[in-house]
Amino acid sequence: AEPRPIAMVTTLNGYACQRRTPLQHHNAVLTDALLVLAEKAEFSENEGRSVALRAASVLKALPHTVINMENLQGLPCLGEHSQRVIKEILEDGKSREVEAALHSEQYQAMKALTGIFGVGVKTADRWFREGLRHPSDVASSGHRLNHTQQAGIQHYDDLNMPVTKAEADAIGQIVKEAVQAVLPGAEIILTGGFRRGKPTGHDVDFLITHPEEGKEEGLMPKVVSWLEARGLLLYQKTNRNSYLEATEGSARPPNNMDRFERSFSIFRLDMPGAGPERHPQAALLEQAQDDSSVGGRRVGESWDWKAVRVDLVVTPFSQFAFALLGWTGSQLFERELRRWAGQEKHMSLSSHALYDSKQKRYLRASCEEEIFAHLGLEFIPPCERNA
Ligand code: CTP
Ligand code: MN
Ligand code: MN
Ligand code: MN
Repeated sequence: AEPRPIAMVTTLNGYACQRRTPLQHHNAVLTDALLVLAEKAEFSENEGRSVALRAASVLKALPHTVINMENLQGLPCLGEHSQRVIKEILEDGKSREVEAALHSEQYQAMKALTGIFGVGVKTADRWFREGLRHPSDVASSGHRLNHTQQAGIQHYDDLNMPVTKAEADAIGQIVKEAVQAVLPGAEIILTGGFRRGKPTGHDVDFLITHPEEGKEEGLMPKVVSWLEARGLLLYQKTNRNSYLEATEGSARPPNNMDRFERSFSIFRLDMPGAGPERHPQAALLEQAQDDSSVGGRRVGESWDWKAVRVDLVVTPFSQFAFALLGWTGSQLFERELRRWAGQEKHMSLSSHALYDSKQKRYLRASCEEEIFAHLGLEFIPPCERNA
């Protein structure tokens, strides 16, 4: 008898927070294509974005490579559009719609312009309509830029270079030193993509807390001053905590946007082994440049410093588990957790708290496991939240 081919049919749950999504998966060709369509939809601000993101996310969770359309049977979130794109790629090796997007002037310009720190889709779209295509066009256009956008253009190349885990750890050491200098006993935790096991990221995310509730209040300005005094910050914007004022008089947090004391910043990370002492040219180059603050100064193949985006968030200890869950991502995993909480459990989840609308009370948690349990979900470790 002939061996029967194994039927590659897998069933998956409908919410990304019910699935395990590893970083390395088996369908990158298909997910890359769907993610381009998600980006294209985002650039024209239509709903297609989350549809394509959900479809890609389902394929990321599959334990095998999709080789024919039968493999898709029983899978959630794969609409007519996604299936058409997948079919085309399985048959022809590529999708015309994706190729067209990648080669279009609009996609390329929007990608370059939204790649500027401080520039969102709305601004980029306005600039595109005015004929701007690249950050250098913006710089020479005479547009009034806010401080964030000025920093974004100034450090464009560095900020579009992936941040490595080694660089994230080096920044972690600096932040730890700063935090402990201004508040002994405070703790810092690496979150975001690096906590999910990503080898690189577009920024570095940290949570800061203190085991004694209340001690963390007002910490951020002190940390920022410590860093600024040492020339380690190229840019920072600090928002104070507005959680209590926002919730006053209402039973639960108003929306998903969190209100922690936080700082969006750009660090100046010194690159060991590439400093002027090892590279005498660097010192000469520095003397020759009248504005040495523009970008990392390249010396041959290396440079002596690099601009790196860093997000710092201060959380009271009682909200720490919620903040950790909320800032670990992925963004889609977070959105799906909140959708699950609302639609399936009549609960409201934020990075501050979990509110049960039936019991009319907040549910406490001191670790992520307790939050998953409150939500009736199997615990998914950070490395499997790459939805
Ligand atoms: N986040 C948030 N509020 C913001 C910005 C981000 O709650 N104002 C959350 C996001 O939902 C995400 C996490 O913080 O879960 C990390 O966001 P981000 O740094 O943008 O993404 P990463 O997953 O870390 O990916 P990358 O490597 O590109 O930085
Ligand atoms: Mn990040
Ligand atoms: Mn990101
Ligand atoms: Mn971030």
